[in-house]
Amino acid sequence: MNTPILEMKNITKKFGSVTALNGVNLEVFPGEIRGLIGENGSGKSTISSIAAGMQKAISGQMLYEGNAWEPESMIDALNKGIGMVVQESGTITGITVAENIFLAEMKKFKKGLLVDRKRLYEDADRALSNIGITSISGRDMMDSLSFQERKLVEIAKVILKKPRILLIDETSTALSHDGRQIMYGIMKKMKEEGGSVIFISHDLEEIMEVCDTLTVLRDGNLIRTFAKEEFDENLIRTSMIGRELEGDYYRPDFNCSFLDEEAIVVKNLCFYDKLKNVSLTLHRGEILGIGGLADCGMHELGEAIFGALKPESGAVISPRGRHIKSPHNAMTDKIGYVSKDRDRKSLCLEASIKDNIAVAGMNIFKSGAGLITRSAERKYVDEQIDALRVKCSGRDQVVAQLSGGNKQKVVFGKWIGCGSEILILDCPTRGVDIGVKQAMYQLMSKLKSEGKAILMISEELPELIGMSDRVLIMKNGEITGEFKRSKDLSESDIIGCMI
Ligand SMILES: Nc1ncnc2c1ncn2[C@@H]1O[C@H](COP(=O)(O)OP(=O)(O)OP(=O)(O)O)[C@@H](O)[C@H]1O
Ligand SMILES: [Mg+2]
Repeated sequence: MNTPILEMKNITKKFGSVTALNGVNLEVFPGEIRGLIGENGSGKSTISSIAAGMQKAISGQMLYEGNAWEPESMIDALNKGIGMVVQESGTITGITVAENIFLAEMKKFKKGLLVDRKRLYEDADRALSNIGITSISGRDMMDSLSFQERKLVEIAKVILKKPRILLIDETSTALSHDGRQIMYGIMKKMKEEGGSVIFISHDLEEIMEVCDTLTVLRDGNLIRTFAKEEFDENLIRTSMIGRELEGDYYRPDFNCSFLDEEAIVVKNLCFYDKLKNVSLTLHRGEILGIGGLADCGMHELGEAIFGALKPESGAVISPRGRHIKSPHNAMTDKIGYVSKDRDRKSLCLEASIKDNIAVAGMNIFKSGAGLITRSAERKYVDEQIDALRVKCSGRDQVVAQLSGGNKQKVVFGKWIGCGSEILILDCPTRGVDIGVKQAMYQLMSKLKSEGKAILMISEELPELIGMSDRVLIMKNGEITGEFKRSKDLSESDIIGCMI
């Protein structure tokens, strides 16, 4: 029997009254790719970040290659062989890609009092090209990169240190097809070289495909570890949520149906190579899906419709005939927007759940005289927290302290609750567990039946097919295909227009 590369024994972690981990025992072996799955807030990020030196357990022991493992920090852990790609943003804006990659080692590039920038950029380019990325340069400012590119920089940064154990926290949903292939390639190589990977994802299909073993966490407890031959979707799901998932997952009907009334008309939008003459109409009572590869322009389309990105030409026209030119215009016309880049664009991390949700909902809980009462505000916020089962200690908890999926629920609640007539949802179910995904889909169906209009941008084909009345596919900034809802619509029908 070989010895584990990492042993975590009886690990307990609390945050105030919340028990994030309750005596968890986890052993990982050399050459193993271990999946970690569980509902939002079940403890996946916490256990991984303890192994990677980002935080400390309140009790329990760890052994790495048979020796006591007590990393002082994330950098210390990485230098000694355990690296982590974190769930949220693991890079810093305002500096270059190269400075991010070598953040803890800038000393290496000192030349007298100056920094040898040429060597810094060259080394960064090499670190990127080593993992197959040539489209990003060490000289690029971090701010100029997309969400996926920032994640790739983070991966390059960790891999550069040749870790023996790599922890990957919910990164797939930030990456497009190509980005994922890069990540899977890295995982495979680590395995071949006798290292180990701990891989967190909410995508059961993906995790069953890429992992050798799979551990389920629920409410801070390790429920069960499955060997590959024991993988069974239903069994894994049931152990995740502690009961069987009931009711429909996606919409049960296969009718493409919506009202004639137009909700948003987009006319000839142009934005560099991202949007080339894009026109579409979203109707009341319609769920219009927009799909494509991550860089096809669909995320920019969502931003432009909300007025958050100024197109070079073209127009977005609301039902009142108004041209949407700013988020303020959009909100006045009852348009809500969930951005894919949740931490930078959708949330104020240092503010409470209450403040984040209430910001958009003032019109709902304001009294007739226009006054805002504390109790009405609290009631409104609590309704949103309950509706989406946000796992938190209360409405006053700071959003930064929530688990990734629970942050996403706050964003969703902020826009769903406030009476938006039109919703632009960019990857709305990113990082949320299957139980909550189901609740979000049911909410979307309810909004549709109330005549609201939903534009859902998504990189997940099953979700687009499962929920949309029509699906528009984009490629290189253009709409390349339109598909009506039907029983027979399949992923392969659509993929042809994407690539
Ligand atoms: N800094 C913190 N302060 C307070 N509570 C925290 C903090 N970090 C995590 N928690 C809580 O600990 C629990 C476990 O959180 P964790 O982030 O590990 O969940 P997760 O399984 O990664 O969830 P997700 O799938 O949503 O990312 C949650 O209830 C969370 O709110
Ligand atoms: Mg997490």
